[in-house]
Amino acid sequence: MSNAADIIVHGGYPIAGTIRASGAKNSVLKLMAAAILAPGQTRITNVPLISDVTLMAEVLMSLGVKVEFEREQAAVVIDTFDITSLKAPADLVNQIRASIAVLGPLLGRFHEAQVAVPGGCQIGERKLDIHFAALEALGMQFYTDTEYIYASAPGGLVGAPVYLRFPSVGATENLMMAAVLARGTTIIDNAAREPEIADLANFLNAMGARISGAGSPRITVEGVTELTPTDHHTVGDRIESGTFLVAGALLGGPVTVEGISPDYLATALLKFEQMGVSVDKTPNSVTVWRDHTQTLKGTDIQTLPFPGFPTDLQAQFMVLASLSEGGSRIAENIFESRFQHVEDLVRMGADITTEGHFAYINGVSKLTGATVHSSDLRAGAALVLAGLAAEGETRVTNTEHIDRGYENFVSKMQSLGAHISR
Ligand code: EPZ
Repeated sequence: MSNAADIIVHGGYPIAGTIRASGAKNSVLKLMAAAILAPGQTRITNVPLISDVTLMAEVLMSLGVKVEFEREQAAVVIDTFDITSLKAPADLVNQIRASIAVLGPLLGRFHEAQVAVPGGCQIGERKLDIHFAALEALGMQFYTDTEYIYASAPGGLVGAPVYLRFPSVGATENLMMAAVLARGTTIIDNAAREPEIADLANFLNAMGARISGAGSPRITVEGVTELTPTDHHTVGDRIESGTFLVAGALLGGPVTVEGISPDYLATALLKFEQMGVSVDKTPNSVTVWRDHTQTLKGTDIQTLPFPGFPTDLQAQFMVLASLSEGGSRIAENIFESRFQHVEDLVRMGADITTEGHFAYINGVSKLTGATVHSSDLRAGAALVLAGLAAEGETRVTNTEHIDRGYENFVSKMQSLGAHISR
Protein backbone atom coordinates (compact mmCIF):
# COMPACT_ATOMS: atom_id res chain seq x y z
CA MET A 1 0.00 0.00 0.00
CA SER A 2 1.48 3.29 -1.00
CA ASN A 3 2.01 5.69 1.86
CA ALA A 4 3.26 8.64 -0.18
CA ALA A 5 1.00 10.99 -2.08
CA ASP A 6 0.56 10.31 -5.78
CA ILE A 7 2.32 12.54 -8.30
CA ILE A 8 0.03 14.18 -10.86
CA VAL A 9 1.55 15.35 -14.16
CA HIS A 10 -0.08 17.38 -16.94
CA GLY A 11 1.91 16.72 -20.10
CA GLY A 12 2.95 18.75 -23.10
CA TYR A 13 4.40 21.81 -21.42
CA PRO A 14 7.93 22.98 -22.34
CA ILE A 15 10.67 21.90 -19.95
CA ALA A 16 13.64 24.27 -19.72
CA GLY A 17 15.91 25.80 -17.12
CA THR A 18 18.78 25.01 -14.79
CA ILE A 19 18.84 22.77 -11.73
CA ARG A 20 21.62 21.71 -9.41
CA ALA A 21 22.43 18.04 -8.96
CA SER A 22 22.11 16.72 -5.43
CA GLY A 23 24.85 14.60 -3.86
CA ALA A 24 25.03 11.05 -5.24
CA LYS A 25 22.74 8.62 -3.40
CA ASN A 26 24.94 5.71 -4.49
CA SER A 27 28.01 7.34 -3.00
CA VAL A 28 26.74 8.94 0.21
CA LEU A 29 25.22 5.69 1.53
CA LYS A 30 28.66 4.06 1.39
CA LEU A 31 30.49 7.14 2.68
CA MET A 32 28.22 6.99 5.74
CA ALA A 33 29.09 3.30 6.26
CA ALA A 34 32.81 3.99 5.75
CA ALA A 35 32.75 6.47 8.64
CA ILE A 36 32.65 3.39 10.91
CA LEU A 37 36.33 2.82 10.06
CA ALA A 38 37.54 6.07 11.63
CA PRO A 39 36.64 6.47 15.33
CA GLY A 40 35.42 10.03 15.90
CA GLN A 41 33.43 12.69 14.07
CA THR A 42 33.10 12.59 10.28
CA ARG A 43 31.29 15.37 8.39
CA ILE A 44 29.88 14.62 4.95
CA THR A 45 28.49 17.51 2.86
CA ASN A 46 26.40 17.63 -0.33
CA VAL A 47 24.20 14.98 1.28
CA PRO A 48 20.84 14.48 -0.48
CA LEU A 49 17.93 14.53 1.94
CA ILE A 50 16.26 11.35 0.67
CA SER A 51 14.69 8.49 2.58
CA ASP A 52 17.55 6.09 1.83
CA VAL A 53 19.93 8.44 3.66
CA THR A 54 17.57 8.62 6.64
CA LEU A 55 17.37 4.83 6.66
CA MET A 56 21.15 4.43 6.49
CA ALA A 57 21.41 6.84 9.43
CA GLU A 58 19.02 4.58 11.37
CA VAL A 59 21.14 1.53 10.55
CA LEU A 60 24.23 3.35 11.88
CA MET A 61 22.35 4.49 15.00
CA SER A 62 21.35 0.85 15.66
CA LEU A 63 25.10 0.22 16.01
CA GLY A 64 25.40 3.00 18.57
CA VAL A 65 26.72 5.57 16.07
CA LYS A 66 25.62 9.18 16.66
CA VAL A 67 24.19 10.82 13.51
CA GLU A 68 23.25 14.50 13.29
CA PHE A 69 21.82 16.11 10.13
CA GLU A 70 22.51 19.76 9.38
CA ARG A 71 19.71 20.12 6.86
CA GLU A 72 20.42 23.73 5.87
CA GLN A 73 24.00 22.79 4.99
CA ALA A 74 22.96 19.48 3.38
CA ALA A 75 25.43 17.89 5.74
CA VAL A 76 25.53 14.96 8.14
CA VAL A 77 27.87 14.55 11.13
CA ILE A 78 28.59 10.94 12.06
CA ASP A 79 30.32 10.10 15.36
CA THR A 80 31.56 6.51 15.38
CA PHE A 81 33.75 6.74 18.48
CA ASP A 82 31.51 4.54 20.60
CA ILE A 83 30.07 1.63 18.64
CA THR A 84 28.01 -0.42 21.05
CA SER A 85 26.67 -3.11 18.71
CA LEU A 86 27.97 -5.04 15.71
CA LYS A 87 24.50 -6.16 14.65
CA ALA A 88 22.64 -4.41 11.82
CA PRO A 89 19.04 -5.41 12.51
CA ALA A 90 16.76 -7.10 9.99
CA ASP A 91 13.88 -4.63 10.22
CA LEU A 92 16.17 -1.84 9.04
CA VAL A 93 18.36 -3.78 6.60
CA ASN A 94 15.25 -5.06 4.85
CA GLN A 95 14.27 -1.49 4.08
CA ILE A 96 17.57 -0.56 2.52
CA ARG A 97 19.72 -3.09 0.68
CA ALA A 98 22.69 -0.74 0.62
CA SER A 99 23.09 -1.34 4.37
CA ILE A 100 25.14 -4.41 3.40
CA ALA A 101 27.88 -1.76 3.06
CA VAL A 102 28.38 -1.83 6.85
CA LEU A 103 29.73 -5.40 6.62
CA GLY A 104 33.16 -4.42 5.29
CA PRO A 105 33.77 -1.55 7.71
CA LEU A 106 32.59 -3.53 10.78
CA LEU A 107 34.89 -6.41 9.80
CA GLY A 108 37.72 -4.01 9.09
CA ARG A 109 37.57 -2.24 12.43
CA PHE A 110 36.09 -4.88 14.79
CA HIS A 111 36.83 -8.17 12.97
CA GLU A 112 33.22 -9.14 13.53
CA ALA A 113 29.76 -8.27 12.16
CA GLN A 114 26.20 -9.51 12.17
CA VAL A 115 24.24 -8.07 9.26
CA ALA A 116 20.72 -9.03 8.27
CA VAL A 117 20.43 -10.64 4.87
CA PRO A 118 19.00 -7.84 2.70
CA GLY A 119 15.91 -8.82 0.74
CA GLY A 120 15.77 -8.98 -3.04
CA CYS A 121 13.80 -6.30 -4.79
CA GLN A 122 11.73 -5.51 -7.84
CA ILE A 123 14.67 -5.42 -10.23
CA GLY A 124 16.28 -8.69 -9.34
CA GLU A 125 17.59 -11.20 -6.85
CA ARG A 126 20.55 -9.07 -5.78
CA LYS A 127 22.83 -11.91 -4.70
CA LEU A 128 25.83 -11.36 -2.39
CA ASP A 129 28.13 -14.20 -3.48
CA ILE A 130 30.72 -11.80 -4.92
CA HIS A 131 30.82 -9.86 -1.62
CA PHE A 132 31.32 -13.10 0.34
CA ALA A 133 33.99 -14.57 -1.94
CA ALA A 134 35.95 -11.31 -1.86
CA LEU A 135 35.82 -10.94 1.94
CA GLU A 136 36.65 -14.62 2.47
CA ALA A 137 39.84 -14.05 0.47
CA LEU A 138 40.87 -11.59 3.21
CA GLY A 139 40.12 -14.14 5.93
CA MET A 140 36.47 -13.53 6.74
CA GLN A 141 34.64 -16.60 8.06
CA PHE A 142 30.87 -16.51 7.94
CA TYR A 143 27.67 -18.45 8.06
CA THR A 144 24.11 -17.36 7.41
CA ASP A 145 20.73 -18.41 8.72
CA THR A 146 17.55 -17.23 7.05
CA GLU A 147 17.84 -13.79 8.66
CA TYR A 148 21.46 -12.91 9.40
CA ILE A 149 25.00 -13.08 8.12
CA TYR A 150 27.35 -13.94 11.03
CA ALA A 151 30.83 -12.84 9.97
CA SER A 152 34.14 -12.78 11.80
CA ALA A 153 37.86 -12.53 11.12
CA PRO A 154 39.69 -13.98 14.14
CA GLY A 155 43.06 -12.27 14.30
CA GLY A 156 41.98 -9.63 11.79
CA LEU A 157 41.87 -9.48 8.00
CA VAL A 158 44.92 -10.15 5.83
CA GLY A 159 45.40 -8.46 2.45
CA ALA A 160 45.23 -10.72 -0.61
CA PRO A 161 44.77 -10.63 -4.38
CA VAL A 162 41.05 -10.85 -5.26
CA TYR A 163 39.43 -11.27 -8.68
CA LEU A 164 35.75 -10.32 -8.86
CA ARG A 165 33.83 -12.61 -11.22
CA PHE A 166 31.73 -9.55 -12.12
CA PRO A 167 32.61 -5.88 -11.42
CA SER A 168 29.98 -5.59 -8.69
CA VAL A 169 29.73 -2.03 -7.33
CA GLY A 170 28.74 -3.11 -3.83
CA ALA A 171 31.28 -5.90 -3.62
CA THR A 172 34.11 -3.60 -4.78
CA GLU A 173 33.12 -1.09 -2.09
CA ASN A 174 32.72 -3.64 0.69
CA LEU A 175 36.08 -5.19 -0.18
CA MET A 176 37.83 -1.81 -0.35
CA MET A 177 36.42 -0.81 3.05
CA ALA A 178 37.49 -4.13 4.59
CA ALA A 179 40.98 -4.00 3.05
CA VAL A 180 42.04 -0.54 4.30
CA LEU A 181 42.80 -1.85 7.83
CA ALA A 182 43.88 -5.35 6.80
CA ARG A 183 47.46 -6.52 7.33
CA GLY A 184 49.30 -6.28 4.00
CA THR A 185 48.19 -5.43 0.48
CA THR A 186 44.95 -6.26 -1.33
CA ILE A 187 44.69 -6.18 -5.12
CA ILE A 188 41.16 -5.99 -6.49
CA ASP A 189 41.03 -7.17 -10.09
CA ASN A 190 37.99 -6.63 -12.32
CA ALA A 191 36.91 -3.92 -9.89
CA ALA A 192 33.84 -1.78 -10.60
CA ARG A 193 34.77 1.61 -12.11
CA GLU A 194 31.71 3.70 -11.23
CA PRO A 195 32.56 7.31 -10.18
CA GLU A 196 31.15 6.58 -6.71
CA ILE A 197 33.99 4.07 -6.20
CA ALA A 198 36.59 6.81 -6.71
CA ASP A 199 34.58 9.10 -4.41
CA LEU A 200 34.73 6.44 -1.67
CA ALA A 201 38.45 5.82 -2.27
CA ASN A 202 39.18 9.55 -2.03
CA PHE A 203 37.27 9.69 1.24
CA LEU A 204 39.16 6.69 2.66
CA ASN A 205 42.52 8.10 1.52
CA ALA A 206 41.69 11.39 3.25
CA MET A 207 41.22 9.30 6.42
CA GLY A 208 44.73 7.93 5.95
CA ALA A 209 44.10 4.86 3.80
CA ARG A 210 46.45 3.96 0.97
CA ILE A 211 44.30 3.14 -2.06
CA SER A 212 45.39 3.54 -5.68
CA GLY A 213 43.72 2.70 -8.98
CA ALA A 214 40.10 3.47 -8.01
CA GLY A 215 38.19 4.07 -11.23
CA SER A 216 40.35 1.53 -13.07
CA PRO A 217 39.71 -2.22 -13.19
CA ARG A 218 42.59 -2.82 -10.74
CA ILE A 219 42.54 -1.26 -7.29
CA THR A 220 45.47 -1.65 -4.88
CA VAL A 221 44.89 -1.21 -1.13
CA GLU A 222 47.87 -1.17 1.23
CA GLY A 223 46.62 -1.90 4.74
CA VAL A 224 47.29 0.71 7.46
CA THR A 225 46.86 0.38 11.21
CA GLU A 226 44.35 3.15 11.85
CA LEU A 227 42.21 5.77 10.13
CA THR A 228 41.20 9.20 11.41
CA PRO A 229 37.94 11.03 10.70
CA THR A 230 37.80 13.66 7.96
CA ASP A 231 35.32 15.89 6.14
CA HIS A 232 34.14 14.99 2.65
CA HIS A 233 32.01 16.55 -0.09
CA THR A 234 29.89 13.97 -1.95
CA VAL A 235 30.10 13.91 -5.76
CA GLY A 236 27.03 14.94 -7.75
CA ASP A 237 24.39 12.36 -8.56
CA ARG A 238 24.88 11.30 -12.20
CA ILE A 239 21.63 9.33 -12.32
CA GLU A 240 19.51 12.14 -10.95
CA SER A 241 21.27 14.44 -13.46
CA GLY A 242 20.61 12.05 -16.34
CA THR A 243 16.96 11.80 -15.36
CA PHE A 244 16.46 15.58 -15.62
CA LEU A 245 18.45 15.73 -18.86
CA VAL A 246 16.05 13.18 -20.37
CA ALA A 247 13.19 15.55 -19.46
CA GLY A 248 14.94 18.28 -21.48
CA ALA A 249 15.55 15.91 -24.38
CA LEU A 250 11.89 14.86 -24.37
CA LEU A 251 10.30 18.33 -24.29
CA GLY A 252 13.02 20.37 -26.02
CA GLY A 253 14.89 22.07 -23.21
CA PRO A 254 17.42 23.57 -22.93
CA VAL A 255 17.92 21.92 -19.54
CA THR A 256 21.18 22.47 -17.68
CA VAL A 257 22.26 20.38 -14.70
CA GLU A 258 25.01 21.95 -12.60
CA GLY A 259 27.22 20.18 -10.06
CA ILE A 260 27.93 17.15 -12.20
CA SER A 261 30.98 16.16 -14.27
CA PRO A 262 30.09 15.22 -17.87
CA ASP A 263 32.66 12.43 -17.54
CA TYR A 264 30.20 10.64 -15.23
CA LEU A 265 27.64 10.51 -18.06
CA ALA A 266 29.82 10.06 -21.16
CA THR A 267 27.97 7.06 -22.65
CA ALA A 268 24.53 8.50 -21.92
CA LEU A 269 25.53 11.81 -23.55
CA LEU A 270 26.72 9.88 -26.60
CA LYS A 271 23.29 8.22 -26.76
CA PHE A 272 21.56 11.59 -26.56
CA GLU A 273 23.55 12.76 -29.59
CA GLN A 274 22.85 9.53 -31.48
CA MET A 275 19.14 10.11 -30.83
CA GLY A 276 19.24 13.66 -32.23
CA VAL A 277 19.58 15.56 -28.95
CA SER A 278 22.17 18.37 -28.73
CA VAL A 279 24.59 18.28 -25.81
CA ASP A 280 26.82 20.98 -24.35
CA LYS A 281 29.31 20.40 -21.52
CA THR A 282 31.43 22.37 -19.07
CA PRO A 283 33.69 20.73 -16.46
CA ASN A 284 30.87 20.95 -13.90
CA SER A 285 27.61 20.97 -15.88
CA VAL A 286 25.74 19.43 -18.82
CA THR A 287 23.11 21.04 -21.06
CA VAL A 288 20.79 19.24 -23.50
CA TRP A 289 18.28 20.65 -25.96
CA ARG A 290 16.38 19.63 -29.06
CA ASP A 291 14.63 22.16 -31.25
CA HIS A 292 11.35 21.14 -32.90
CA THR A 293 13.11 20.44 -36.24
CA GLN A 294 15.20 17.72 -34.56
CA THR A 295 13.13 14.54 -34.36
CA LEU A 296 14.23 11.85 -31.90
CA LYS A 297 15.80 8.84 -33.62
CA GLY A 298 15.68 5.28 -32.31
CA THR A 299 18.92 3.71 -31.08
CA ASP A 300 20.47 0.59 -29.57
CA ILE A 301 21.29 0.59 -25.84
CA GLN A 302 23.26 -2.02 -23.88
CA THR A 303 23.39 -1.47 -20.10
CA LEU A 304 26.89 -2.29 -18.88
CA PRO A 305 29.17 -1.66 -15.91
CA PHE A 306 30.70 1.83 -15.95
CA PRO A 307 31.86 3.36 -18.25
CA GLY A 308 29.16 1.57 -20.25
CA PHE A 309 25.57 2.82 -20.37
CA PRO A 310 24.19 2.89 -16.79
CA THR A 311 21.37 0.48 -15.95
CA ASP A 312 19.96 3.21 -13.69
CA LEU A 313 19.13 5.32 -16.77
CA GLN A 314 17.64 2.44 -18.78
CA ALA A 315 13.99 3.14 -17.91
CA GLN A 316 14.38 6.87 -18.53
CA PHE A 317 15.92 6.33 -21.99
CA MET A 318 13.18 3.83 -22.82
CA VAL A 319 10.71 6.72 -22.54
CA LEU A 320 12.86 8.69 -25.00
CA ALA A 321 12.98 5.68 -27.35
CA SER A 322 9.20 5.29 -27.09
CA LEU A 323 8.75 8.71 -28.73
CA SER A 324 11.57 8.36 -31.25
CA GLU A 325 11.24 7.71 -34.97
CA GLY A 326 12.02 4.13 -35.89
CA GLY A 327 12.93 1.20 -33.71
CA SER A 328 15.16 0.85 -30.67
CA ARG A 329 16.50 -2.14 -28.84
CA ILE A 330 17.50 -2.02 -25.17
CA ALA A 331 19.48 -4.86 -23.59
CA GLU A 332 19.37 -4.86 -19.78
CA ASN A 333 22.55 -6.76 -18.96
CA ILE A 334 22.94 -5.89 -15.29
CA PHE A 335 19.70 -6.89 -13.55
CA GLU A 336 17.51 -9.86 -14.32
CA SER A 337 14.16 -8.08 -14.21
CA ARG A 338 14.40 -4.37 -14.75
CA PHE A 339 11.56 -3.93 -17.26
CA GLN A 340 8.80 -3.31 -14.68
CA HIS A 341 8.06 0.05 -16.31
CA VAL A 342 7.28 -1.47 -19.74
CA GLU A 343 3.72 -2.52 -18.84
CA ASP A 344 2.79 0.98 -17.71
CA LEU A 345 4.47 2.65 -20.69
CA VAL A 346 2.48 0.35 -23.01
CA ARG A 347 -0.69 1.39 -21.22
CA MET A 348 0.26 4.99 -22.05
CA GLY A 349 0.46 4.03 -25.73
CA ALA A 350 4.09 2.99 -26.12
CA ASP A 351 4.84 0.13 -28.52
CA ILE A 352 7.27 -2.09 -26.57
CA THR A 353 7.75 -5.83 -26.42
CA THR A 354 10.23 -7.63 -24.20
CA GLU A 355 11.98 -10.94 -24.74
CA GLY A 356 14.32 -12.00 -21.91
CA HIS A 357 16.70 -9.17 -21.26
CA PHE A 358 15.85 -7.38 -24.52
CA ALA A 359 13.18 -4.71 -24.99
CA TYR A 360 12.17 -3.80 -28.53
CA ILE A 361 10.61 -0.35 -28.91
CA ASN A 362 8.84 1.01 -31.99
CA GLY A 363 8.54 4.77 -31.69
CA VAL A 364 5.02 6.22 -31.54
CA SER A 365 3.92 9.79 -32.18
CA LYS A 366 2.35 10.30 -28.78
CA LEU A 367 1.74 8.90 -25.33
CA THR A 368 -1.52 9.35 -23.43
CA GLY A 369 -1.73 10.07 -19.73
CA ALA A 370 -2.86 7.23 -17.45
CA THR A 371 -2.66 6.07 -13.84
CA VAL A 372 0.63 4.17 -13.48
CA HIS A 373 2.49 2.53 -10.61
CA SER A 374 6.16 3.04 -9.83
CA SER A 375 7.67 -0.33 -9.00
CA ASP A 376 11.20 0.86 -8.27
CA LEU A 377 13.03 4.10 -7.95
CA ARG A 378 14.14 4.60 -11.55
CA ALA A 379 10.97 3.16 -13.11
CA GLY A 380 8.96 5.65 -11.05
CA ALA A 381 11.04 8.55 -12.29
CA ALA A 382 10.71 7.29 -15.86
CA LEU A 383 6.91 7.19 -15.58
CA VAL A 384 6.91 10.82 -14.46
CA LEU A 385 9.04 11.63 -17.52
CA ALA A 386 6.49 9.83 -19.69
CA GLY A 387 3.76 11.93 -18.08
CA LEU A 388 5.63 15.14 -18.93
CA ALA A 389 5.55 14.14 -22.63
CA ALA A 390 2.10 12.51 -22.67
CA GLU A 391 -1.18 14.16 -23.63
CA GLY A 392 -3.43 14.71 -20.67
CA GLU A 393 -3.01 13.79 -17.04
CA THR A 394 -0.78 11.05 -15.64
CA ARG A 395 -1.07 9.86 -12.03
CA VAL A 396 1.96 8.05 -10.64
CA THR A 397 1.35 6.03 -7.48
CA ASN A 398 3.78 4.39 -5.00
CA THR A 399 5.90 7.52 -5.13
CA GLU A 400 7.76 6.51 -1.96
CA HIS A 401 10.08 4.69 -4.37
CA ILE A 402 10.94 8.00 -6.01
CA ASP A 403 11.54 9.68 -2.65
CA ARG A 404 14.17 7.05 -1.87
CA GLY A 405 16.58 8.46 -4.39
CA TYR A 406 15.41 11.85 -5.67
CA GLU A 407 15.66 14.91 -3.45
CA ASN A 408 12.91 17.49 -4.07
CA PHE A 409 11.96 15.70 -7.31
CA VAL A 410 8.64 17.49 -7.80
CA SER A 411 9.93 20.97 -6.94
CA LYS A 412 12.99 20.53 -9.19
CA MET A 413 10.67 19.49 -12.05
CA GLN A 414 8.39 22.46 -11.32
CA SER A 415 11.41 24.78 -11.51
CA LEU A 416 11.90 23.51 -15.09
CA GLY A 417 8.31 24.39 -15.97
CA ALA A 418 6.68 21.03 -15.43
CA HIS A 419 2.98 21.05 -14.53
CA ILE A 420 3.45 18.51 -11.77
CA SER A 421 2.15 18.28 -8.23
CA ARG A 422 1.75 15.86 -5.34
C1 EPZ B 1 24.62 -0.46 -7.10
O1 EPZ B 1 23.92 -1.63 -6.70
C2 EPZ B 1 23.59 0.66 -7.10
N1 EPZ B 1 23.03 0.83 -5.76
C3 EPZ B 1 22.47 0.36 -8.10
O2 EPZ B 1 21.61 1.50 -8.13
C4 EPZ B 1 23.10 0.18 -9.48
O3 EPZ B 1 22.08 -0.16 -10.39
C5 EPZ B 1 24.14 -0.93 -9.42
O4 EPZ B 1 25.14 -0.59 -8.43
C6 EPZ B 1 24.85 -1.13 -10.76
O5 EPZ B 1 25.44 0.08 -11.14
C7 EPZ B 1 23.78 1.45 -4.81
O6 EPZ B 1 24.90 1.86 -5.02
C8 EPZ B 1 23.13 1.62 -3.46
P1 EPZ B 1 26.05 -4.63 -8.27
P2 EPZ B 1 24.74 -2.99 -6.36
O7 EPZ B 1 26.60 -5.32 -7.07
O8 EPZ B 1 26.01 -2.65 -5.69
C9 EPZ B 1 24.71 -9.09 -9.34
C10 EPZ B 1 19.59 2.66 -8.02
O9 EPZ B 1 18.57 2.69 -8.73
N2 EPZ B 1 25.48 -9.44 -8.14
O10 EPZ B 1 26.99 -3.98 -9.24
O11 EPZ B 1 23.79 -3.91 -5.67
C11 EPZ B 1 23.46 -8.32 -8.96
O12 EPZ B 1 22.42 -9.24 -8.66
C12 EPZ B 1 20.25 1.33 -7.70
O13 EPZ B 1 20.14 3.68 -7.50
C13 EPZ B 1 25.70 -10.80 -7.87
O14 EPZ B 1 25.27 -11.69 -8.61
O15 EPZ B 1 25.01 -3.51 -7.84
C14 EPZ B 1 23.18 -7.51 -10.18
O16 EPZ B 1 22.47 -8.29 -11.12
C15 EPZ B 1 19.54 0.18 -8.37
N3 EPZ B 1 26.40 -11.13 -6.75
C16 EPZ B 1 24.58 -7.20 -10.72
O17 EPZ B 1 25.47 -8.14 -10.11
C17 EPZ B 1 26.90 -10.19 -5.88
O18 EPZ B 1 27.53 -10.55 -4.87
C18 EPZ B 1 25.06 -5.78 -10.41
O19 EPZ B 1 25.07 -5.67 -9.02
C19 EPZ B 1 26.65 -8.82 -6.17
C20 EPZ B 1 25.94 -8.47 -7.30
